[in-house]
Amino acid sequence: MQWNSLVALALSASSVNAMLRFSCSQLTTERLDPLVFPGANPSPHVHQIVGGNAFNTTMNPSLDLPSQATCTSCTFSEDFSNYWTAVLYFRAKNGTFKRVPQAGNQFLEQANGGMTVYYIPPYDGRTKVTAFRPGFRMLTGDPMLRNRVENAEHRSLSFRCWDANFGGEQGAPGTGRDTRELPNKPCPGGIRANIFFPTCWDGKNLDSADHKSHVAFPSSGSFESGGPCPSSHPVKIPQILYETFWDTRQFNNKADWPTDGSQPFVFSMGDPTGYGTHGDYVFGWKGDALQRAMDQNCNVNCPTLKSQSYQQANSCKMNARVREDIDGWLSKLPGSNPLTFN
Ligand SMILES: *[C@@H]1O[C@H](CO)[C@@H](O)[C@H](O)[C@H]1NC(C)=O
Ligand SMILES: *[C@@H]1O[C@H](CO)[C@@H](O)[C@H](O)[C@H]1NC(C)=O
Repeated sequence: MQWNSLVALALSASSVNAMLRFSCSQLTTERLDPLVFPGANPSPHVHQIVGGNAFNTTMNPSLDLPSQATCTSCTFSEDFSNYWTAVLYFRAKNGTFKRVPQAGNQFLEQANGGMTVYYIPPYDGRTKVTAFRPGFRMLTGDPMLRNRVENAEHRSLSFRCWDANFGGEQGAPGTGRDTRELPNKPCPGGIRANIFFPTCWDGKNLDSADHKSHVAFPSSGSFESGGPCPSSHPVKIPQILYETFWDTRQFNNKADWPTDGSQPFVFSMGDPTGYGTHGDYVFGWKGDALQRAMDQNCNVNCPTLKSQSYQQANSCKMNARVREDIDGWLSKLPGSNPLTFN
């Protein structure tokens, strides 16, 4: 219901359910991971990174992103956060890999790839959320996972197999026909990955050793249904959702697919299952902009926030610092990550 309203909203710009939704275009795509592998150039697997151009190999929590960045690839121009995910490759029958292009998401088609970011306050419209503090970062998902795990974290990660022109499933991400593993059939309109982050914070730590323990999922129910936070993590934070749209259309010919019935897509860490999908977040909004947007139950249109055109957002790019080919027909995934099935 919420999501049908969102669709109506995006079309009519009327004010229904609060849900900050915006695009962040491609900033850089390379093997860097300042959260899990700070200082490593290169890190183990390719990421696509969006947001402010203060993104770096190392990003200490004391780094003031709004003052260090000179542009952001997000349409809300006070958002200098960085957001990243793994990237998807197609594995041809001869064993070579080709990176799957990304494209603008439904209703945000003018964005240059990248991802759609949501900050969602509780649906009752009353419960307040506490915006993240400077230096806050977190990780959700496990790049090494190759099997289905039933817990809140992994139930929050899913894929949508679109019919042509964003057709088919229109419900909330992870519902209806969405799957927890990479779709096992060609998707005429491409594949969208959905990554929901935890919504409860311990109120103290900006990070933790595993980049997860300082945050938690609701102790019962769901964020959407107003589920309570555990006492160890009592502070409700905005629900972050990433949607990344993989334009698989050039790889949909069944003749190019494996003859054993498996599907040909593989994430950059060597994951052909999709269970290793993950998202990284480094907060970097200017001043109290995000808190204001949450307090005002902001929507796709959010007058309290400054925004920029798609053209401006698309022009914020960084040159790759890791010098390697990630886009040709590759005999190995960058980093030589082997395919691992379990
Ligand atoms: C990245 O970090 C290096 C080393 O601290 C610094 O010289 C460089 O200016 C930083 N780049 C950006 C874009 O902030
Ligand atoms: C492998 O297959 C792809 C897709 O058909 C093709 O473009 C590429 O040239 C092939 N590479 C080799 C080394 O045969």
